[in-house]
Amino acid sequence: MKKAFLSIIFSLFAIMVFADDGSRLWLKYDLIKDQKQKLSYIKFSKFIAGNTENPTLQKAAEELQSGFAGLLGTKTIISPKSTSLSGGIILEVSNNQSLTQSLNEDGFAIFARNGNIVISSKSAVGVLYGAFELLRNIQTLQAIGQNIVSNPRVKIRMLNHWDNANGTVERGYAGSSMWKWNELPFRIDPRYVAYARANAAIGINATSINNVNASSRFLTAEYLEKIKAVADVLRPYGIRVFISVNFRSPRTLGGLKTSDPLDPEVRKWWNEKTKEIHQYIPDFGGYLVKANSEGEPGPQDYGRTHADGANMLAEAMKPFSGIVIWRAFVYNADPNGDRFKEAFEQFKPLDGKFDEKVIVQVKNGPIDFMPREPFHPMFGGFSNTKLAMEFQITQEYLGQSTHLTYLAPMFKECLDTDTYAKGKGSTVAKVIDGSLYNSQVSLMAGVANTGSDANWCGHPFNQANWYAFGRLAWDNTLSSEKIAKEWIGMALTNDEKAKVQINEMMQKSLPTYISYTYPLGLSHMMGEGHHYGPEPWLTKAARPDWTSIYYHRADSIGLGFDRTGKMSNALNLYTKEVREMWGNPDKCDLNYLMWFHHIAWNKKLSTGNTLWEELCYRYYNGVVEVQKLQKDWTNLKPYIDTETFGSVSARLKIQEKEAIWWRDACVLYFQEFAKTPIPSSLTPPNRNLEEVKKLVEIYHLR
Ligand code: GCU
Repeated sequence: MKKAFLSIIFSLFAIMVFADDGSRLWLKYDLIKDQKQKLSYIKFSKFIAGNTENPTLQKAAEELQSGFAGLLGTKTIISPKSTSLSGGIILEVSNNQSLTQSLNEDGFAIFARNGNIVISSKSAVGVLYGAFELLRNIQTLQAIGQNIVSNPRVKIRMLNHWDNANGTVERGYAGSSMWKWNELPFRIDPRYVAYARANAAIGINATSINNVNASSRFLTAEYLEKIKAVADVLRPYGIRVFISVNFRSPRTLGGLKTSDPLDPEVRKWWNEKTKEIHQYIPDFGGYLVKANSEGEPGPQDYGRTHADGANMLAEAMKPFSGIVIWRAFVYNADPNGDRFKEAFEQFKPLDGKFDEKVIVQVKNGPIDFMPREPFHPMFGGFSNTKLAMEFQITQEYLGQSTHLTYLAPMFKECLDTDTYAKGKGSTVAKVIDGSLYNSQVSLMAGVANTGSDANWCGHPFNQANWYAFGRLAWDNTLSSEKIAKEWIGMALTNDEKAKVQINEMMQKSLPTYISYTYPLGLSHMMGEGHHYGPEPWLTKAARPDWTSIYYHRADSIGLGFDRTGKMSNALNLYTKEVREMWGNPDKCDLNYLMWFHHIAWNKKLSTGNTLWEELCYRYYNGVVEVQKLQKDWTNLKPYIDTETFGSVSARLKIQEKEAIWWRDACVLYFQEFAKTPIPSSLTPPNRNLEEVKKLVEIYHLR
């Protein structure tokens, strides 16, 4: 009996140890098994000393304490006073010039002094970031005690939540909203603290909590009370709250006849509303605005410009430290235009006209978060406007929460591209971090992929995209391999061999996804509305630029959107060097070919294959690569907890099925134009186009 009982306890324990629901993200703090390594850390775990009256330093101390308890099994005391003892951690906000001269406001230094490890910064939040860095080094089994100096390159490192008041999330694939509006302000879900910790651990210091397709409701006293409660939780972790606003709010909430930004009553309304918000949230970060885009209201409704609208809000924000983030995601439904150019053309006359409190937030590419886009021509094209980067962490067009797609290489590819705006080396990263135009404000935003799912992000690997976004916002020079290595060590396993294999899988995952969905620079051929799966034949939609044929331009001659020609000439928005890079079809990187050129089906490419052959090979190869990912993952079973292993294995099966779906759909559809057989080395699909089209109808029912 006793034996049976013990065995039940033992198996429960085994399950607890080996099944992990992923809810702890990258802050797992499980006991380190390597005794020698553990002892090298225990040496510094006697105490944590710092001014814990400061709420942020208190959080830093608590985090180290619980991290040590988990990782090292120690009971480390927190001492509010400085100490002459050794063997501990000292947290200090310092104005000692010689220590802090190499640091910016949020930066930190870690070094050894008198047998202790000191974490020093000009600010309390800098110390908190340093504490997380120290924990990261321990979590990933690095040596500690040597000098580290780290400064964020971008000032505002922000998540944009597209969460609605009714609990849904626009383009959310991980359950419902993590904000429980119905419970706030009375109940504080423990997840808010977990969220703050996870973000602070990667340096994120701002969050806009609601959808850019914004409801005015978020500006009511009822909701400000709720947002205040969230802001109070996030504040000690250095995170400032922003609100997405609906431009029509003066009418819908204030009962005014207009929302014209030049109307004195409207301006007064925003001034008062902004004051009111600060009574709830004194450190309010500011407004995020989607205006005159996809049906949202905006200043153009009153014959005014984006600058008029943004500057009105900036004026309201003048007495305060917050800013106005004005999105540049605008385009008109013009069948003869080119969506690629529209934001640039609408904003160009306004370059230099925005108030200094305004920062214009631009998506990484000119269309809409496609798996691979050329960088947005506004980067490098605007020298008198502060520009922010908007990446999408949630994978609207990148397999949502089913396909394994690690996004750091995509973020990096964009950030590292040279705009040549001020000569060689004028990378997009330098536009964003403010160094190219010597700007004091800089911002990188990521559309969040968080939801109510236990593991926050749906696919276990999607957590890595949130992590990578934060790390790159902190330091855009980090490599995608380094970031993956950190995340794997903290979230999956510290086994060296397994880490290398998982990292390879992650690095291959994006090219694999692109290969079976959008090879050679194709874009925007997904299912209508839900944006999942292939629908290259989509000919009619509410707007011409929501169809697929608008983008791929397949015809009997060839494939691709000619942006060099007279009709669009979007390429002209870039500098001479960039035009030379992409403008010549014989020299253009094949990964971008269809973005800029209409290429004949039988044209020989640099690979030696014709366009048609290359297209087929890439679609087929994408499927083969998914099958390899499956095999690699199977081999990793001994190193991964059962729940994560099972979840990823199942998703990889779906991914394989859907990679075949994409391949068959696109190859069969484009074959109607190419009128050429699939290369003989490949096995033709075992279904016809009509059959594949029916699958889409099933998906529409989702
Ligand atoms: C995409 C997305 C929308 C979103 C929009 C935006 O078009 O599909 O759901 O609202 O981007 O960024 O505003």
